[in-house]
Amino acid sequence: MPDIKFLSKAALLDKTVIIDGKPTKVLGLASFRTEPRGQGIGKHSLRAMEDIARRKGYAGIFYFCFDDVKGFYLKCGHYLLGRRGDKNIMASFPAKSVEVTEEW
Ligand SMILES: CC(C)(COP(=O)(O)OP(=O)(O)OC[C@H]1O[C@@H](n2cnc3c(N)ncnc32)[C@H](O)[C@@H]1OP(=O)(O)O)[C@@H](O)C(=O)NCCC(=O)NCCS
Repeated sequence: MPDIKFLSKAALLDKTVIIDGKPTKVLGLASFRTEPRGQGIGKHSLRAMEDIARRKGYAGIFYFCFDDVKGFYLKCGHYLLGRRGDKNIMASFPAKSVEVTEEW
């Protein structure tokens, strides 16, 4: 096992969700983590993912998160779109309404 000093790991999924009544292609973010934490790696990684989404023609990054990390994403300028069970529905873009029909 190599001695890893900095780690940023995430899965980016090709997804379609209903945003403001319209099917919208989004880059679904899952299993995101950084090591060490609190060093700015998360914020920079999100920016890089937003850039990938933009270049590939997605509306943006879309994901679900628990309450304990919601503040991180809001600090990064993302939006709280709603609630799904015990998780928040978040995205890098604002929306009036959101509907998730696909399995994640
Ligand atoms: C959540 C996570 C990805 C954030 O990455 P990070 O590299 O620690 O975050 P950063 O250092 O880039 O922080 C950016 C800003 O968010 C703030 N922040 C970080 N974690 C926070 C949290 N849980 N709640 C509120 N604010 C938070 C930082 O203080 C920083 O604020 P600043 O810009 O005013 O200095 C990382 O802590 C992590 O891997 N956590 C464990 C796994 C996890 O919960 N992943 C999310 C699954 S949805």
